[in-house]
Amino acid sequence: MIKDEIISLIGSRRARVGVVGLGYVGLPLAVEFARRGLPATGFEVDAAKADAVNRGQSYVGDVPAAALQEVVSEGRLHATTDFDELASCDAVVICVPTPLRKTKEPDISYILAAAGEIQRRLRRGQLVVLESTTYPGTTDEILLPMFEDKGLKLDADFLLAFSPERVDPGNPRFQTHNIPKVVGGCTDDSTAAAAALYAVIVAEVHAVSSARVAEAAKLLENTFRAVNIGMANEMARLCYHLGIDTWEVIGAAATKPFGFMPFYPGPGLGGHCIPLDPHYLSWKARQHGFESRFIGLAEEVNSRMPEHVVRLVAGGLNAERKAVNGSRVLVVGVAYKRDIADVRESPALSIIDRLRAEGAEVAYHDPYIAELRFEEAHTEGGGEPLSSVALTDEELRAADCCVIVTDHSGVDYGRLCELSKLVVDTRNALGRDLRRHSRARILRL
Ligand SMILES: NC(=O)c1ccc[n+]([C@@H]2O[C@H](COP(=O)([O-])OP(=O)(O)OC[C@H]3O[C@@H](n4cnc5c(N)ncnc54)[C@H](O)[C@@H]3O)[C@@H](O)[C@H]2O)c1
Repeated sequence: MIKDEIISLIGSRRARVGVVGLGYVGLPLAVEFARRGLPATGFEVDAAKADAVNRGQSYVGDVPAAALQEVVSEGRLHATTDFDELASCDAVVICVPTPLRKTKEPDISYILAAAGEIQRRLRRGQLVVLESTTYPGTTDEILLPMFEDKGLKLDADFLLAFSPERVDPGNPRFQTHNIPKVVGGCTDDSTAAAAALYAVIVAEVHAVSSARVAEAAKLLENTFRAVNIGMANEMARLCYHLGIDTWEVIGAAATKPFGFMPFYPGPGLGGHCIPLDPHYLSWKARQHGFESRFIGLAEEVNSRMPEHVVRLVAGGLNAERKAVNGSRVLVVGVAYKRDIADVRESPALSIIDRLRAEGAEVAYHDPYIAELRFEEAHTEGGGEPLSSVALTDEELRAADCCVIVTDHSGVDYGRLCELSKLVVDTRNALGRDLRRHSRARILRL
């Protein structure tokens, strides 16, 4: 049986693993397989990334260059743009992007392209696993027919499963090996083989009854976050109107040892997952005539946060008889979250764009992001790229308002409060002492 053949190859560490897409998800995964003794090949359409991997240069924060260099120099991992090498892989894992179209509908074109490359080389004995976040049914309804079109039969010739990625970039506590992995195959044999594959690199594999369940579990996880962040953001705006400190309220509620889990407000959702993934679920729901109201509501609340931040800035300036138009605003932190170099979907883009549209002269400081480019969607404010400025005394003194959008740990918030006139803190980056003794006026969400 194919299942037994693959499990035996994995057990004896003779199975070659192909990872298609060497981004934030694929590169750490390929390195982990290689480190745990499975020879790995990374497949990329971006030749610059493949070259960097082969030189041992890491471009993903969670992959230390030393770890990459070790597996590359020992010949346990190499990257290529030549998809013909897929034929030599026993297991192939797909880690390509799953963005949204402008209409907010799922864009699975990258999955289709990667699956097309695999289909052309699919041979008897291979296990294919999809890791890209997607709507329930993608593996069964899209990939399976593509592969069977080749004349090969599931279970008899090849195996197919879905296993969602849960990487949390920049989180030193939870890395690939200690994040349990959910695995759901199109058949029981597929589940068993995929579970055996991941057992090589993670401490706990949780097998479920189908690929659909695994796909839906991933979307539940991220929708849960989006909805709860939406609740926290709504609470923040409510507290703002009531004149109550949101953070103090959440801190107090979080002392309850059961039945409560703290979520925090912020300047808006960011990153490649939380703002996008719920749309995959609501889109699929609509196909079945079901309207997912929580998802829509959370989106509505969360997507208004950048606007709320701009209104806080305007209110703070107004109290000093200043207009946004012509004021110098220094945005501190533009990455979508603390201590990482990723601006995808960052609310900072929207905040800067809106401030510029209102005539503010905007500069930003981010130790992780040297250049900020504005996508087509962010053109109201002009869209010219910006470069990070140093957080000098002059820069802080010159700003009419500093907006902390991302609470990077390397920033000296004491000095920022000392030298600024007005600070809008969207992340509760400033501790109680700083707030009490600051010379700057401080506004919080
Ligand atoms: N980044 C995260 O924190 C995270 C966490 C969990 C799940 N995910 C999901 O994992 C998937 C990948 O996300 P990511 O953040 O790694 O994306 P990414 O953009 O960092 O990486 C994807 C890589 O795939 C490459 N690629 C695109 N098409 C390809 C093709 N046809 N063949 C080979 N390579 C191709 C791109 O060049 C890129 O390097 C997405 O579905 C995402 O939603 C991401």
